[in-house]
Amino acid sequence: MTILSYEILLTLAVFILYFLYYRKFKFFTIVEKLEQHNIRNKLPRGKCPPSYPNGWYRLCRSGELKSGEVKEIKLCGRHIAYYRGTDKTVYAVAAYCPHMGANLGIGGQVKFRSCIECPFHGWAFDGKSGLCVNSDKLDPKVVSTYCYPDIERVTKNQKGEYLQKISEGEVKIKTYLVKELKGIVYIWLHSQESKPWYDLVSEQSDHLSLRAESVNYVNCHIQEIPENGADMKHFDYVHYSAMDIIPSWLVQLRWEMRTKNAKDPDFLEKMTHPVEKCRTYQKSIFDQYLANKELIPYLNVLLLDGYVILFNKYKFHAVWATGFQMGPATVALYVKSAIFEVLFKQAIQPVEKFTQKVYHTVFTNNYLPYWISAYLLHAELRQVIFDVKLWNAKIFSETLRYNMKNHADQALLNWRQWYSQFYEGSAEFEKGLDVLEW
Ligand code: FES
Ligand SMILES: [Fe+2]
Repeated sequence: MTILSYEILLTLAVFILYFLYYRKFKFFTIVEKLEQHNIRNKLPRGKCPPSYPNGWYRLCRSGELKSGEVKEIKLCGRHIAYYRGTDKTVYAVAAYCPHMGANLGIGGQVKFRSCIECPFHGWAFDGKSGLCVNSDKLDPKVVSTYCYPDIERVTKNQKGEYLQKISEGEVKIKTYLVKELKGIVYIWLHSQESKPWYDLVSEQSDHLSLRAESVNYVNCHIQEIPENGADMKHFDYVHYSAMDIIPSWLVQLRWEMRTKNAKDPDFLEKMTHPVEKCRTYQKSIFDQYLANKELIPYLNVLLLDGYVILFNKYKFHAVWATGFQMGPATVALYVKSAIFEVLFKQAIQPVEKFTQKVYHTVFTNNYLPYWISAYLLHAELRQVIFDVKLWNAKIFSETLRYNMKNHADQALLNWRQWYSQFYEGSAEFEKGLDVLEW
């Protein structure tokens, strides 16, 4: 009898422990808050390029937005309300209601499948057309538009019409283009409202499962984060430590890196991996990303080989990674080792000038125990934190200097040339923003 109850208790304890483990690690998240030194945010940081390059940005993870749910975000100098209609589609509109300026993303509700209803007086806007509508037939509401033409010159006891009618007719709210792909919702943001000139690539991740995600807040210019991937020389200075508790005389990391814009004529020749097993893996990803010729100018590719050095002497090839930078704010990094494969999706959301929210989302093999995928995120984040400390404290050099005898600096120069294509019209857009923004 006693033995039996021990068995039951033991089974129960194992069950509870597994349940707690499962809850903690099944989808493991790390959210780093902005550190206190963000006071540097207020200091001049050098003459930077504009803060909000044009491109596709991560809006949210698909799982974060349920049918009928409404949210708001401050992104790239815009205030945006977004929601998943009861038709399951995600819509994004300018946050402020054209009637009296209420924020649709705070307290707004989904109506008529694809519309959002304002929390102030109930006007409904269709996420597809932007039209203000009366009913589920989506018939447009007719309104009169007035403005204060002379409000700055009003005098006491002035007689006359303060408000002037401009027009009468339909009213529209600004809508944004949204795409949902492989578990992430993206939004197209362009300072001159141009249509997307590059498309998102569907990652090779069907055989991997979503396991973990981290969020960091960083005080730097957006360009400095993706640029880090193209900065070959910093890897051995900044990213040599494997773990805090392991001294570097015992274990060190070493990195070898190459980077190229996919449109360079010698791209395949320079970027094909010399080791056959890496080459085979790499080829299948290259085939996917390079298949669409129109995308090639917007694609920068990184190759990273990670080595473990034991006792400062024995060198082992531990991981090889292939990274695709698509546009200004998203990277897909495929990391392969002998026993596992991980896809890290990096996404940057510029919250305001010099404040970036950075996501790393981890997809990995189903067979890996949850604690290992949690550890992989942890290990990657540890390396990111080394960079974050530098980003938070550095300036953006006004005049950029390159050692042209040095291959690494040439690569950086090429990378910056490549990234500049995303700034078309961004400087003018930024000038037009509310001065309180900065
Ligand atoms: S402010 Fe939106 S309906 Fe009045
Ligand atoms: Fe780095």
